[in-house]
Amino acid sequence: MKNLIQLLAALALLQACTTAPSAPSPCTGQSTPTERLFLQQVTATSAIIRWRGEAASVCIGQSADSLTQRFDASTVNGHMTAQLTGLQADTRYFYAIGGAGTTDPSFTFTTAPEPGQVPADGNTHIWLLGDSGTQTEQFMGRFTHPGEAEIVKQGFLKYNADQADNEPVDLLLLLGDNAYLEGTDAQWQGAYFDIYPKIIRSVATWPTIGNHEMGAGPLDVCLFRPMPQCEEGPVMMAVGGISESADPASYDSNGDGPDEGGLPYLSIFDLPSRGEAGGVPSGTEQYYAFDYGNVHVVSLDSQLSNRDDAQRRAMRDWLVDDLSRNTLDWTIVIFHHPVYSKGENHDSDVEQAEIDMRETFAPVFEDYGVDLVFNGHAHSYERSWYLHGHHGKSDTFSAAQHAELNADGDPAIGQGEESYQQISSGSGKDDKAIYTVAGSAGKADEPHPCKEGQRLGCTLPDWLMHPAHRTFDPTVSGARPHGIARRGSVVVDATAKTLTSRFIDEHGEVLDWFVIER
Ligand SMILES: [Fe+2]
Repeated sequence: MKNLIQLLAALALLQACTTAPSAPSPCTGQSTPTERLFLQQVTATSAIIRWRGEAASVCIGQSADSLTQRFDASTVNGHMTAQLTGLQADTRYFYAIGGAGTTDPSFTFTTAPEPGQVPADGNTHIWLLGDSGTQTEQFMGRFTHPGEAEIVKQGFLKYNADQADNEPVDLLLLLGDNAYLEGTDAQWQGAYFDIYPKIIRSVATWPTIGNHEMGAGPLDVCLFRPMPQCEEGPVMMAVGGISESADPASYDSNGDGPDEGGLPYLSIFDLPSRGEAGGVPSGTEQYYAFDYGNVHVVSLDSQLSNRDDAQRRAMRDWLVDDLSRNTLDWTIVIFHHPVYSKGENHDSDVEQAEIDMRETFAPVFEDYGVDLVFNGHAHSYERSWYLHGHHGKSDTFSAAQHAELNADGDPAIGQGEESYQQISSGSGKDDKAIYTVAGSAGKADEPHPCKEGQRLGCTLPDWLMHPAHRTFDPTVSGARPHGIARRGSVVVDATAKTLTSRFIDEHGEVLDWFVIER
């Protein structure tokens, strides 16, 4: 008994030590303006607030006019970083940087529910942005897609106001290519911090690495533009998004050798390599897992780790370990390179990163209960049938063999009476997944047929015709047989019993949706 009391006293002391604010200093004075204020790793008991500016502390409280708990910040990778601990689950907090005064009650966030629980409002509201980084995209010194990420954001906000009761976003998932063309710090500023400032200071961003986060590499530009000089051989240029490195230290923004500060993506984001937010520690920020209430999310690295056989095996082994221990209701996986796609420039029958992700990881998703997979890379929207066992090229797809079928023997659409069931009626297991390509949050490809000899920067005859993806009504604007060439973003809602995914266009209209029930 005495030992038990001593143990309990020691545990109480330990808890007091780990949950106390980092400094006892009072919260006084006005708050200070900051740049790039954003949240990371919001869990049931903790959160990270990052910013750039002079201020070195943050004060928090459960009402906007009573910010009494102070946490000091330190500089980590060029950002002031405050680690908030000892928070209460599923609770709204207000905060101010550098003091207690705040004139803006939108400086607020809500902690995650306890693991396994649903939020008080019954729903986890998730916003996903693929390839949204086009505000900073340039070609020959000219901005090529100004304002397009902004109108996709406005479309989401309109949808949220008109059809979702203005429910606050709980998670922001980035699907890669969120800062064009090379993923420099300045491009992250222009394409991410400047476009979504109110959202990213209210919810944690959980990203994955795309090719455009990885700097520049050599490309034969004749593949894009057959020019007279191409007759004498390849014309090589350093082009953003072409890097073939598997090493983040080799980050090269302009083709003249590795940059000093390393990979900006890894400096900006503070990601849970040690299982800080749930899931099995991955040991790297390049891929990781976390829990949010009854949702388990995994971010894989189809860019760096996937380029190296040993790293890819390590990532697969970790994924099997992580998913084996996951007991939450829903599992969502994000990474950049799509498992199935017939997007412009990005064909999952041809592009090695996509083949590797399909052959190495899709079987794991199916064997270990993953429900939804989201990718970007192709700048259009494609969404699969409810799939199991299709790991080959597109010409090996058989609806009868690989897709959940409806009463008529056609692939089920996932709506109404054809809603998907998490436990398959055939196998009695959670062994099917939906794969969505949603890389049009910053631009959408348009039909412009390839000329003789041209393979890139044009649409081939089978553009958006991957048979593993659902079919679309040809009267829908931008519809192709198995995809939609339209700008937009995805919203996922997870309740205790349903998982719903919607593709929202720039006008706030829902162009596709489906439900998985459990
Ligand atoms: Fe990409």
